[in-house]
Amino acid sequence: MTETSASSASLISGTTAFKEPFPMNLVVFPGYIVFILMPTNLSGCSNLEVLWLAGNKLVGSIPKEMSLLSKISRLAIHDNKLTGGIPPFLGNITSMEGFSAGGNPFGGSIPDTLGHWKSLTEFDSGGCNLYGSIPHSIFNLSLLVTFSLPDNHLTGSLPSEIGNQIPNLEYLQLRNNELTGVLPLSISNCSKLGTLEMSNNSFTGKLTIDFSKLRDINIIRLDNNFHGRREADNMRFVDSLKNCTRLVDLNLYNCNLIGVLPISIGNLSHQLSFLYLGHNQLFGSLPSSIGSLVGLTTLSLANNIFKGRIPTTIGKLQKLQYLSLSRNQFSGPIPGAIGNLSLLTILYLENNKLEGHIPSSLGNCKELNELYLAHNRLTGKVPKQILQLPSLTIFLDLSYNNLSGSIPSEIKYLKMLSGLALSYSNLSGTITSIGECISLTKLYLSGNIFEGIIPSSLSSLRGLEVLDISQNKLSGKIPQFLEKWHSLEFLNLSFNDFEGEVPVVGVFANASLFSVLGNDKLCGGLVTLGLPKCKETGSKKKRFIFLILLIVIAPTLLIILCCVYVLCKKKRNSQPSESSRSERFMKVSYNQLLKATDGFSTENLIGEGGHSSVYKGILDSNDDKSVAVKVLHLQSRGAHKSFIAECEAWRNIRHRSLLKIITSCSSTDLQGNDFKALVYEFMPNGSVHDWLHSSAYTSKLNLLQRINILRDVAIALDYLHNRCQTTIVHGDLKPSNILLDDDMVAHVGDFGLARLLGTDLNQNSSSGVKGTIGYAPPEYGIGREMTCCGDVYSFGILLLEVMTGKKPTNDMFIGGLSLHKFAYMALPDHVIDVIDNDAIVLQSTEANAKKVEECLVATIKIGVSCSVDSPPQRMKIEIVVNELQRILDVLQNL
Ligand SMILES: *[C@@H]1O[C@H](CO)[C@@H](O)[C@H](O)[C@H]1NC(C)=O
Ligand SMILES: *[C@@H]1O[C@H](CO)[C@@H](O)[C@H](O)[C@H]1NC(C)=O
Ligand SMILES: *[C@@H]1O[C@H](CO)[C@@H](O)[C@H](O)[C@H]1NC(C)=O
Ligand SMILES: *[C@@H]1O[C@H](CO)[C@@H](O)[C@H](O)[C@H]1NC(C)=O
Ligand SMILES: *[C@@H]1O[C@H](CO)[C@@H](O)[C@H](O)[C@H]1NC(C)=O
Ligand SMILES: *[C@@H]1O[C@H](CO)[C@@H](O)[C@H](O)[C@H]1NC(C)=O
Ligand SMILES: *[C@@H]1O[C@H](CO)[C@@H](O)[C@H](O)[C@H]1NC(C)=O
Ligand SMILES: *[C@@H]1O[C@H](CO)[C@@H](O)[C@H](O)[C@H]1NC(C)=O
Repeated sequence: MTETSASSASLISGTTAFKEPFPMNLVVFPGYIVFILMPTNLSGCSNLEVLWLAGNKLVGSIPKEMSLLSKISRLAIHDNKLTGGIPPFLGNITSMEGFSAGGNPFGGSIPDTLGHWKSLTEFDSGGCNLYGSIPHSIFNLSLLVTFSLPDNHLTGSLPSEIGNQIPNLEYLQLRNNELTGVLPLSISNCSKLGTLEMSNNSFTGKLTIDFSKLRDINIIRLDNNFHGRREADNMRFVDSLKNCTRLVDLNLYNCNLIGVLPISIGNLSHQLSFLYLGHNQLFGSLPSSIGSLVGLTTLSLANNIFKGRIPTTIGKLQKLQYLSLSRNQFSGPIPGAIGNLSLLTILYLENNKLEGHIPSSLGNCKELNELYLAHNRLTGKVPKQILQLPSLTIFLDLSYNNLSGSIPSEIKYLKMLSGLALSYSNLSGTITSIGECISLTKLYLSGNIFEGIIPSSLSSLRGLEVLDISQNKLSGKIPQFLEKWHSLEFLNLSFNDFEGEVPVVGVFANASLFSVLGNDKLCGGLVTLGLPKCKETGSKKKRFIFLILLIVIAPTLLIILCCVYVLCKKKRNSQPSESSRSERFMKVSYNQLLKATDGFSTENLIGEGGHSSVYKGILDSNDDKSVAVKVLHLQSRGAHKSFIAECEAWRNIRHRSLLKIITSCSSTDLQGNDFKALVYEFMPNGSVHDWLHSSAYTSKLNLLQRINILRDVAIALDYLHNRCQTTIVHGDLKPSNILLDDDMVAHVGDFGLARLLGTDLNQNSSSGVKGTIGYAPPEYGIGREMTCCGDVYSFGILLLEVMTGKKPTNDMFIGGLSLHKFAYMALPDHVIDVIDNDAIVLQSTEANAKKVEECLVATIKIGVSCSVDSPPQRMKIEIVVNELQRILDVLQNL
């Protein structure tokens, strides 16, 4: 490899750490070389000027011979696995101008001898596990431009003259260390500074830096410093920021700033995008000049002592996405102008003294995902406009206010919402309409005046983990569906007026997971509840008589039976809930899976795909419930990527229309080969493919079931595309990936080809296989990236297959005819002829028959619109969801 020392422009393209052109003598090994040891024979290249070994897997320590490369000016060894410290002899290479070693687990301290590098302009050793203080000789390197040592364990303080000793600094980055002392005032003299990043250290003293000469600065991050200070700050530094016209990011979160935010805050750069001043002790009012910072996307002022009104000028911050004013003492109304913030996704206003109505203009914040207004003094009704925001998917918290009226029926539009808190907010009426918020996992309704029974509509909230309806006026029996919700982790029914028997299974089997206190008419349940026994009902009476007989005949037998019964029951009750709580965190071993699937026996094989086989099994640790174990064929090309894609996709998502993953296994099998598997909940009703095409399924799906399934799949896609933190493209939607649970509810599974837009993963999984023939859109065939539009195409084909009962690969589709065309040609008058006969039930009246036909036409239209060849012309999945819901509403009301 010493022969490789000629320069090669093509090898270095794409690597940009060194800005200047490369001199003649250099060695470049970017990215893809695996060494066992640092090469020692490089020492022959005594004329080497640039040595680039970054981004490999080099291990071991830097060899002594390296110091013989006396002409080296640039040494790039970052992102390897080098250990053994940064050796002092490197200081002998006095020609060094750029030293880039970040991302190696070196350890040790920074050698004093590096102070010999008089020509050094770039020093970058972030994340190198370095200890001790920065030697003073380093601060003598007056030509330094980049000085970056973040994410180490460096201690000690910075010399007060740093800014005068290193006047050319452009990039000073020492975040995540243990530095102490004051932040030197002389930094005010680093007039070329662009980035000042000192977050998460233990600097003390006042923040006195004068930023007025730092014209080029664009990032100032000093957050999490200056603790234990008690003196008031004059906040003068804010005035000095006026001239920093390139400032983008100002982060002074948790800096113990005490004082009034000066009006001059409004004179900061229009480029300023991030302003974090939360967790300080800023008091007085929030100056209305804040509205001049028109570039802001994030404004965090939470946890201060601001009082007075929230200035209405906040409505001018048109780019704002994140606004947090929570935990202050703001009073007066919530300005209606917040409704002007059309890009707002998160709004925190909780724990203030805000009064008046919740402004209905919040309904204009069409991107709002999370809204927190709890612990204020808000009055009036819940405005229906905020309930009509389809974007509201994460959390809506209005609790601890003094609202009035009932829950508006518009709550039904919040189909994607996962958390709702309306506790202690003085609401009344029934809770029936909440049953439509089918994605809820957390629901807090305690301390209101809700009345009536727990409606059966709530049974659709099967993903609920927490349900607190305590302290209301609810009555009636405890409905049976509560005991069947497997994900329920906490249930509080206390202080209502419930009656009848408390169940003993499901969540009711573990007294620490539920509370029924203060309901005088309840009976039965776990013995530990101490409730009275329930009065015998008819059938129980018979059993009682039988028991009496038994007593007469064989009293001893009875005693034995009773004992056995009690023992068994106790055992059963105490186990499942414990395991279900730890369920999500457990990982299983190869041996457990071996046992669960009876040695991966063929009898348990329920499916086989290119990258994997799926087995049915029973996992001890999963409460003896059946699971589906997907074992990756690691030999097959792309299987590793597929596993990573799937794990990554699952880490980010959770929705009731998506197949729930229970655990994963990454281990070795008995022969020592790599073994990877994913464990899902088992879907007893098989896949949509089975129902449509397998002769084993004699009964068929009816029309309502089919449209319900399609609606749920569309909701799942909408969730993946639009409601997750990262957009997820499924990539392989088809009937065999749509699984049906006990209640015939659809769950979308198999994320083996999923692609997370905006992550590294997308490059990985975009190569190779894309989708399945028939379902993959035409553009994948010509090598285009997987996109959401591609999923919509697959959905369109899926819809047409579900409705017509014909696979896209059916023999009849030859010579230019396709499933899409077949359906398209039937529109609008002949739709009934292409619909799967099994789906249609003859309607009693002509009017109804007409309505059904209209629904069929509308459904086929969706399928056709989704599966057009041109990606941008395909229907939007949000619209598909709404349309299918509308069709379902019509069909259900026939
Ligand atoms: C570095 O230079 C010093 C003298 O300047 C010398 O004593 C030492 O041996 C050198 N170290 C190496 C490893 O070459
Ligand atoms: C820094 O440089 C000055 C003069 O160039 C010298 O006197 C001083 O000893 C040096 N300090 C350190 C710590 O190397
Ligand atoms: C900044 O530089 C000037 C001129 O070199 C000097 O007089 C002044 O003391 C320096 N300021 C600080 C805070 O070091
Ligand atoms: C800001 O810049 C102007 C020139 O653009 C200069 O006159 C003024 O002194 C600077 N302000 C501060 C506080 O340094
Ligand atoms: C600061 O902003 C205010 C308006 O908020 C403006 O009147 C004033 O002229 C500005 N001052 C400077 C120095 O830009
Ligand atoms: C903000 O909204 C208010 C009404 O809430 C409106 O009068 C005002 O013109 C809007 N301002 C901007 C800048 O859009
Ligand atoms: C709540 O508001 C009502 C008027 O709607 C008022 O009578 C009542 O005193 C308020 N309660 C509290 C605790 O502020
Ligand atoms: C259930 O709710 C009641 C009333 O809101 C409360 O006092 C109790 O602490 C809650 N139980 C648990 C276990 O949190």
